[in-house]
Amino acid sequence: MDCVVGVGSSLTRVVIDDIPGDKSISHRAIILGSLSDSTSIFTHFLTAEDCLNTLTIFQQLGVPIQRDGATVMMTGVGLNGLNAPANILDTGNSGTGIRLITGVLAGQSFSSRITGDASIQRRPMKRIISPLKDMGARISGKTIEGKSDIYPQLDIEGGVLHGIRYRLPVASAQVKSAVLLAGLFANSPTVVEEPELCRDHTERLMQGFGGHLTRHGDEIHLIPGRLANPTPDTPIRVPSDFSSSAFFLVLGALRVPITMTGIGMNPTRNTLMDVLIRMGAAVTVTDAAGDAFEPHATLTVSPSSMHNVDVNGAEIPFLIDEIPILAVAALFSHGTLKVRDAAELRVKESDRIAAIAMVVRAMGGQIVEYEDGFDVSGPVAIQSFDIDSHGDHRIAMSAIIGAVASGVSATIRNCECIRTSFPNFFDILNRIVDPPVFLVSDPVT
Ligand code: S3P
Repeated sequence: MDCVVGVGSSLTRVVIDDIPGDKSISHRAIILGSLSDSTSIFTHFLTAEDCLNTLTIFQQLGVPIQRDGATVMMTGVGLNGLNAPANILDTGNSGTGIRLITGVLAGQSFSSRITGDASIQRRPMKRIISPLKDMGARISGKTIEGKSDIYPQLDIEGGVLHGIRYRLPVASAQVKSAVLLAGLFANSPTVVEEPELCRDHTERLMQGFGGHLTRHGDEIHLIPGRLANPTPDTPIRVPSDFSSSAFFLVLGALRVPITMTGIGMNPTRNTLMDVLIRMGAAVTVTDAAGDAFEPHATLTVSPSSMHNVDVNGAEIPFLIDEIPILAVAALFSHGTLKVRDAAELRVKESDRIAAIAMVVRAMGGQIVEYEDGFDVSGPVAIQSFDIDSHGDHRIAMSAIIGAVASGVSATIRNCECIRTSFPNFFDILNRIVDPPVFLVSDPVT
């Protein structure tokens, strides 16, 4: 489906209380809820394709899971209770799904196969296969001519695992989580050394469910043992996804005051907010609260003049998914945004450095690309544009926000991918924008 943004939209200030549940946390809720010895109720679960695929996979593995809208009720089967799946497991577009679930499957007594869509079949898997093999797992995958990694579909022969000490070569929460999840099934403790911190949702939920997981400096120590939800009858609310709120945070900083409630405030996730504040954005945080698992708050942002800054080093893993929308914000801000140490962007749902360059150039900006980042200068006179998202949800939404913020007309092709993470994106956008942004199922000519 293509998305058409009309010229000169007028924008209304809004309070948004329906930013959907966090994608990373929703995946982990299904995985750890399934592996626990108890029932769990998760509310505000993200009912987007990525997380629904994870839910279906655990049903295929024999876990009783019911869903009523965004409420998921599940009866965990414990660490030894999963069953061999009858079919190939399909994670769709989700790198988190395939990498974390492979960690779980590596420790089972049965064999399984896991794959995903065309984009997943080009995502590198050596990063999880290598530590999982060190733990004793037997996993094979596909090769791609001219490339040196291993790609899905993955064939996993379950077996006995042993704990390892593993130093993460890249700051990847997916790799860290795959090792920790496999570590639950190992016959000895696992230590993950994390030279650069990255999102810690797996650790929080494992600890919340009574897992023997402790942090010592940059090391995470896991002693295998049972998991159980300490409050099985109390719903656990998944906070709204900071990464989804990021699109409206930037629209608010550029054009119209916006308030968003219940937004996940995990400090390993919300660094885009700090960067926007450094750029001069007027953001206020109120109603800070949380439960045993994750913090959340209300964010209010109003337009102000912004200047570009440098973003690199330890900050990068904390805003890796927000860099496309940050690049769009840079086109409206003074000076040069310099992003470095972000080579991981090359292996996301698309090569996001190349995709960002395509969006910036189409909008009339200039970009200097580096292997691990880019420079974008502003402000520029945004021009009307027509681009293809190439199936990358964050690229599609970033380009739409850029068009709406500048008031130019635009066509963004292949936007159905937005469903993988933000199913009500257009509902929310069209409460702000007039005339509405519309989706057409036949390609725009
Ligand atoms: C995620 C980790 C990050 C992030 C992705 C979600 C997770 O990927 O980009 O969108 O839920 O663990 P990496 O682990 O590859 O950095």
